[in-house]
Amino acid sequence: MFKIIFILVLAYLLGSLMPGYWLGKVFYHKDIRTEGSGNIGTTNAFRILGPIPGTVVLVMDILKGALAGLLPYFFGLHDVNIMIVGLAAILGHTFSIWIGFKGGKAVATSAGVLSVYNTPLFLMVCAIFITCLILFSMVSVASMVGFTFASFMSVLYYQDVILSIIAIVLTVFVFYRHRKNIGRILTGTESTIPFGLVYWF
Ligand code: G3P
Repeated sequence: MFKIIFILVLAYLLGSLMPGYWLGKVFYHKDIRTEGSGNIGTTNAFRILGPIPGTVVLVMDILKGALAGLLPYFFGLHDVNIMIVGLAAILGHTFSIWIGFKGGKAVATSAGVLSVYNTPLFLMVCAIFITCLILFSMVSVASMVGFTFASFMSVLYYQDVILSIIAIVLTVFVFYRHRKNIGRILTGTESTIPFGLVYWF
């Protein structure tokens, strides 16, 4: 029991690491929470800091989730569900101990956890995400569609109870976290990225 609590706390602390915030502060003297969308995730890091730091944030946020998902293996707890440990990391990412229990929108870290728990589903979600980016050029739309797809697949295809519950709860949470994005999508003011059909044609 002590080991399980220990890895849950470790996963939370891992998820709490804020590469987007720290990279901005240390190397660019910018607080990305006060610029652009105010989010500390990949999209806003791209927007405010540029493509290289944006890519670093993407990789590190995914890695946080993947590493948290691997913790049960590192500690020999093979029967502990990866998604539950991963959820602790996702909570760390969204309610980080280092920035006053605030944080990101859960997208990249959740993807990292899923990459370890169910790699085929992770790859399908990536394909859906990229397709949405090509069609709509909006990361927020691609994120919300990706989570919705993962929930449907978890329930209807994989019929995995724990994955389904966590996927549905996360999907609702991700929509809630994107409520300002949804407002901007509805008013046609959501920011787009220079990628996709609207830019190619
Ligand atoms: O993962 C966050 C993304 O979906 C939207 O980011 O900065 O445009 O609110 P942002």
